[in-house]
Amino acid sequence: MQKKIEIFDTTLRDGEQSPGATLSIEEKLKIAHQLAKLNVDTIEAGFPIASNDDFEAVKLIAQNVEGPYISGLARAIEKDILCSWNAVKYSNKPCIHTFISTSDIHLKYMFKKTREQILEMTKNAVKLAKSLTDRVQFSAMDATRTDKDYLCKVIQTAIDKGAVVVNIPDTVGYSQPDEFGRLINYIKENVENINNAMISVHCHNDLGLAVSNSLEAIKRGAGQVEGTINGIGERAGNASLEEIIMNLKTRTDYFNCTTNINIKEIYPISKMVSQYTGISVQRNKAIVGENAFSHEAGIHQHGMLSNPLCYEIMKPEDIGRITKMVFGKHSGKHAIENGLKKLNYKFSQEQLNKITEKIKELADKQKTILEEDIIAIADYELNKSSNYLY
Ligand code: KIV
Ligand code: ZN
Repeated sequence: MQKKIEIFDTTLRDGEQSPGATLSIEEKLKIAHQLAKLNVDTIEAGFPIASNDDFEAVKLIAQNVEGPYISGLARAIEKDILCSWNAVKYSNKPCIHTFISTSDIHLKYMFKKTREQILEMTKNAVKLAKSLTDRVQFSAMDATRTDKDYLCKVIQTAIDKGAVVVNIPDTVGYSQPDEFGRLINYIKENVENINNAMISVHCHNDLGLAVSNSLEAIKRGAGQVEGTINGIGERAGNASLEEIIMNLKTRTDYFNCTTNINIKEIYPISKMVSQYTGISVQRNKAIVGENAFSHEAGIHQHGMLSNPLCYEIMKPEDIGRITKMVFGKHSGKHAIENGLKKLNYKFSQEQLNKITEKIKELADKQKTILEEDIIAIADYELNKSSNYLY
């Protein structure tokens, strides 16, 4: 039986913390509706204590978006937890997500508190949150740089006070996949009450390993994975949710896991997030990059025309997009012939050879060949007057 992995989206909270990204309340609401269509399990709608706008956005999303849990972030202090509750309580599936740092470096330089004091704050915070709602998530910030036995003690305390999700963040993107996986095993073996909660992971991408670390944690038993659309977030960003989801989907033979995600909505939400945040997606990014399903090399185009399985491990239409043949100097005659057929042209082999030559010549001069260029070259070959110039 396949294990169901819960998807926790933090595009509107950690994602919005990307340098240069701010979203209006209306944009956040639209993104939240789209995330509900994507069918994520939890939407972290914001950090209500951070600003009045953040509070209003979380409240509006809690009032209007149905389906996923609506979560509000809160430091492990009373005023944050009450504020988070006051924003999420309008949802019929509210969640309070409270967090505190556990690494010695954060305790010494940021919190100026002892390990005992942090433990006490964890107890009080989770207890208060649990008195308000059942769905309480606790995060041990900078978990991967925390003494393992102390981390286990904090997690055990949080579960004891009622946390139903315990999140293990790689806050600074420091961990390596096997090391992170071993940490998850250690937690499973050393936290006595671990079976009373779900393990979640939240990985940052400072060393480019956020997705790999998240997948490794899933292999070792994590039940929830956190991330953002397009991988946006603090510094180098968060784990890219679309990449995690499509790894699980494409390699069910390897992971034996599934999600509730409606993958047809992946491309539309990616477009929406990049348009509203103003953060464009790099062309060659997996799954949602402009080039992810484009084929230019002649041998690839030939293979694709014979059978898309030759070069595509996922169907672009499954995630709401299409395959693109890009014509350039690497394109072959087969693909060009196919492209011309679609434009209702028919040529002899000799004419096709000439047209292919001309397309390649043009591609040496200009980077992108547009449909207009192909029409102009084809019309020229037919001695036909054209709407386009060649
Ligand atoms: O990166 C982090 O540790 C966080 C926590 C608040 C979960 O974003
Ligand atoms: Zn984070």
